[in-house]
Parts: sequence; C-alpha cells; structure tokens
Amino acid sequence: MKDHYSFLAPFYNRLTKLVFGDQLMLAKTNFAENLSRKRILIIGGGDGLDYQNFQAQLSGEYWEISQAMLSKAKINLAESDLTFHLDFFQAEKGKLFDEVWLHFVLDTMKDKEISSLLGEIRKSVKPEGTIYLADFFAPKNLYQQFLNRSMITFFRIVTNHKRASIPDYERIFLVNNWKRNSEKEFLKGWVKAQVWEKLGS
Ligand SMILES: C[S@@+](CC[C@H](N)C(=O)[O-])C[C@H]1O[C@@H](n2cnc3c(N)ncnc32)[C@H](O)[C@@H]1O
Repeated sequence: MKDHYSFLAPFYNRLTKLVFGDQLMLAKTNFAENLSRKRILIIGGGDGLDYQNFQAQLSGEYWEISQAMLSKAKINLAESDLTFHLDFFQAEKGKLFDEVWLHFVLDTMKDKEISSLLGEIRKSVKPEGTIYLADFFAPKNLYQQFLNRSMITFFRIVTNHKRASIPDYERIFLVNNWKRNSEKEFLKGWVKAQVWEKLGS
C-alpha cells in the first residue's frame, strides 16, 4: 500500500496548528466523554498527537493506511490500550465498538468510499453505538473559501487527495441510516464536530 502521507507525517500536526491554532484539536475532543467506559474505533487518526493527553482512557482499535502516521501514533499513544492496524478497516464478526471516531478523514474519500466505510462501521457498532465526526464543511466566507481551495490543491499535490470538493456528509449519513444527535461548530461553522447515532439494526 503506497503511503501518501509519508512526506507530510513529520510536520502534519505542527502545520495544522500553525494554520488553525487549537480549533481542529478542540473539534476532535469536544465530544470525547466517558472514554474509560467505551471501546473506541479510530479510523484515519493520523499521528494521534491530539489524543495524547487522555490516552490512558482510550481502549479499542486504531486503523491507518499511512505507515508513517501509524508509526507516530504508536509512539504518541503508547500508554493507551489501543491496538494499531495498518490497513483499510473491515468489520469482523462479533467485534463491536461503542463509538467510532472519524476525524478529518472522510474529506479525503470519494462519496462511494464513505458509504462503503459507513457500511462496515454499521456492522461494527453496538445497537446504541455512535459515530463522532469532526471535519471541514462548506467554507463560510471569502477567506475560508480561499484557504479551502488552497488546502485542497496542496493535498491533491502532496498526498494524492482524490476530491476537489467537500463531501455532503449530512446527505451521505442520512442515506446510510444515521441520525445526527449533537453538533458543535468551530471556525464559524467551517469545521463541525457531530455525533451520529445508528438507526435500525
Ligand atoms: C487529513 S489526515 C487527518 C489525520 C488526523 N485524523 C488528524 O486530524 O490529524 C487523514 C488521515 O486519514 C488516513 N486515511 C485516509 N483514508 C483512510 C482509510 N480509508 N482508512 C484509514 N485511514 C485513512 C490518512 O492516512 C491520514 O493519516
């Protein structure tokens, strides 16, 4: 599997802090509650640095497709009870999670890929299970539109990013039978943290 983040991994976290300050970290941690009671599935967690302060409360699985990012996460989250996997996540019969974290990962995927991942996740969460989504939504002003376009161009060149636009998460989640139950906006709503619950079985 080609590692599209090998170049960026050493400074990815510092770069996001330089551009966005703590806002992305706050979006990723806003709904992190009662962690020690949950088995968590983290997909595309990157270097894991923003979870480091509460790693002792994390148990479950961490899936990444970038070897460079995963190696960093293993070090940054060495005191957690997570197991680390270099692959595309696939559901495994009998293995169920309370919560799935999708933080700034769906915006790198095509719509079809997102739907197929939501299908795997549906099979892997408990009936009352939730998805914790944090990601970029439509930019809210001209400055954000400019930054958004620049970021997409940068990621298309550096990481082989497949999209030219931001996914319509609401539509994709609703079509796949998920219902939104909480939301918090950051950067005037350009970034949102949302909790989605599973509808049906
Ligand atoms: C934009 S980075 C964000 C990393 C991290 N979530 C953060 O907020 O700092 C996207 C990450 O998702 C990973 N990724 C992309 N598609 C993935 C997939 N299908 N399964 C697991 N990881 C994936 C990439 O390797 C990369 O590390």
